[in-house]
Amino acid sequence: MKGLILSGGAGTRLRPITHTSAKQLVPIANKPILFYGIEDMAAAGIREIGIIIAPATGDEIREHVGDGSQFGVSITWIVQDEPLGLAHCVLIARDFLGDDDFVMYLGDNMLEQGLTEFVEEFENARNAEPQLGVDHVAPAAQILLAKVENPTAFGVAEIGPAGEVVQLVEKPEVPPSDLALVGVYLFDPTIHEAVASIEPSLRGELEITDAIQWLVTNGHRVNHEVLVGWWIDTGKKDPLLECNRLVLDTLKRDVAGEVDDNSSIDGRVVIEAGAKIVNSTVRGPAIIGAGTVIEDSYVGPYSSIAVDCRITHSEIDNSVLLRRSSVTDIPRLTDSLVGRDTEITKGDARPRATRVMLGDHCHLEIE
Ligand code: DAU
Repeated sequence: MKGLILSGGAGTRLRPITHTSAKQLVPIANKPILFYGIEDMAAAGIREIGIIIAPATGDEIREHVGDGSQFGVSITWIVQDEPLGLAHCVLIARDFLGDDDFVMYLGDNMLEQGLTEFVEEFENARNAEPQLGVDHVAPAAQILLAKVENPTAFGVAEIGPAGEVVQLVEKPEVPPSDLALVGVYLFDPTIHEAVASIEPSLRGELEITDAIQWLVTNGHRVNHEVLVGWWIDTGKKDPLLECNRLVLDTLKRDVAGEVDDNSSIDGRVVIEAGAKIVNSTVRGPAIIGAGTVIEDSYVGPYSSIAVDCRITHSEIDNSVLLRRSSVTDIPRLTDSLVGRDTEITKGDARPRATRVMLGDHCHLEIE
């Protein structure tokens, strides 16, 4: 079994962060989202992983992931010149995938449940011996579904009375159910015929949902499983912050950085070696990256502060700060995602006013 991770695409919903960086590298609890997917694959015993990258952000992803040895896997890089859809990714990965079964994982998805059981189930179903009197058709695919409140934002599956997959539709206006396709799929090589047979959708993409529908229409068996545990498509700010909260909730306390006598560190907090806490309170769950200095400040629950940041005379909670950012004299910063090398400060210049230099596609909410 091989792995295919999709880390191309344009990332328009996380602008401005994605103007300069790949959305799959945005950190959750100070670790790039993409790393969780690679680790889950490695834990499921997958050793050969192909990663789809876009020309604009591919180099940065390659630099972070390296050759895969940090995860105990080998990586093959596959450049997709344009984001022509998830099924297009399978099409261009043909040489890498060969005739092996594979697990496909969307690089911006995070799930609580690892991949091991899901992969094992597919392997068992594929290798099951036919039993006397029981029809055995090996599945060509296995999909993972989750109940959602807004099915129109996802691929949606309709399941028949006998538990069979009846129909799959991508982002339907009138959803046939509230079961969304989670971004983890298992395929046998029949999928190559499917992705070569479908046409681009109205949004101009070759949809994996349509390729799986092609399997169903052409009489191939598609198994499904309904997810237990949480699942988040981290492609927007609020789901990303929610995911950060869920992962921080699993944190174990580890204070390796410097904490002075006037500071208090409450609960499950990670302070990486090389970070400094001066005259401040950090209340967990929270993580503070190496080289970051927190001074005369309060860092509250569900904050992930990356490396080399500076928080001075400020209060912050439920936020993700990317590296080398600073927050100075801000009474309360909450529910925020702050990009790299960003400064937030209070000035006393007259006339008293809010002065900004914002990039494109930013969102600023002033109290
Ligand atoms: O998150 C689950 C949903 O993911 C499913 O319910 C949908 O059926 C499926 O189509 C997909 O929808 P999204 O609109 O959320 O997909 P998105 O464009 O965000 O792409 C998902 C990942 O794949 C992301 O990491 C970028 C990457 N990608 C995307 C496209 C379109 C590529 O590598 N190449 C591409 O051409």
